[in-house]
Amino acid sequence: VHTPRVFSGIQPSGGLTLGNYLGAMKRFVDMQEDVAETIYCMVDMHAITVWQDPDKLARATRELCAGYIASGLDPDKSILFNQSQVAEHAQLAWIFNCVARMGWMQRMTQFKDKAGKNAQNASLGLFAYPALMAADILVYHTTHVPVGEDQKQHLELTRDIAMKFNHDYGVDFFPLTEPVIEGAATRVMSLRDGSKKMSKSDPSDMSRINLTDDAETIAKKIRKAKTDPEPLPSEAEGLEDRPEARNLVNIYAALSDQSVEAVMREVGGKAFSEFKPMLADLAVAKMAPISGEMAKLMQDQAEIDRILADGADRARAIAAPILKKTYEIVGM
Ligand code: ADP
Ligand code: NA
Repeated sequence: VHTPRVFSGIQPSGGLTLGNYLGAMKRFVDMQEDVAETIYCMVDMHAITVWQDPDKLARATRELCAGYIASGLDPDKSILFNQSQVAEHAQLAWIFNCVARMGWMQRMTQFKDKAGKNAQNASLGLFAYPALMAADILVYHTTHVPVGEDQKQHLELTRDIAMKFNHDYGVDFFPLTEPVIEGAATRVMSLRDGSKKMSKSDPSDMSRINLTDDAETIAKKIRKAKTDPEPLPSEAEGLEDRPEARNLVNIYAALSDQSVEAVMREVGGKAFSEFKPMLADLAVAKMAPISGEMAKLMQDQAEIDRILADGADRARAIAAPILKKTYEIVGM
């Protein structure tokens, strides 16, 4: 039996969104209080699976660390570090590249989405990404990974890799890690199109709320968010075929730490002209302090670098013996 240990990561590829905040960061903070060992990574090696300008990558990594702390992560309670600084991730990833099967990788929908039509020109790293992600998780014998719904398939692959490794080498070594996909905002949708995930790569800035948006911008984006003409239904069931309305209610629920049902008791039947200002006020109250704190933290980069270096040391202390044992099992 493995002791509870939480790991998750976000790519420092610039521009954190409300989706990252509600689907990941806010939930990292909740778990920090509930679980003794919480490990949160800036996954820069994942970011470079598509081209990143070196100066911007370095800045985005520090900014993400500032975003973690501004959202409520405490470097004393959680290990915060940069993936590339703990070489055990890359070392275990190679072994997993030899465990994972081509057919498994070819089924990954995120690769198909990100590679697009020109898959022959995608990097080999983009294709192998989920095996590195499995290594990120399993090099700590992680038991739980809080993520958004888009990562579900990669977590299943992580379990497949753990199972095949255990089976091929006749050991019970890697745990079968559980994804933790919970709450009202596991999939925050675009504010312009209820069928698309809110994403930093969407060409329209109006489609997302950025963690760095000021109060006025946040309010404007919510005011202009696409909706249908009907008022909100009186109960949660009425949201089923109304993706835009449902998305705004989900965001309200997640930001206010309430269930969708509780929110509907408060706002059911209201027109959007009434509900949107309520949501805008809530979003500004919750988000604007984070961007302010991020900016403040970014003024002391030496302190951020110190936190990341300390986190890397603590992460390595957990990962190194697990990698060493893995090498022994493999005969290396
Ligand atoms: P992105 O998907 O924005 O490129 P990452 O792949 O680094 O960013 O994802 C970091 C975390 O944020 C993951 O746990 C992912 O599931 C979560 N996440 C990203 N976008 C959303 C969204 N729109 N809704 C909920 N969670 C999201
Ligand atoms: Na903790």
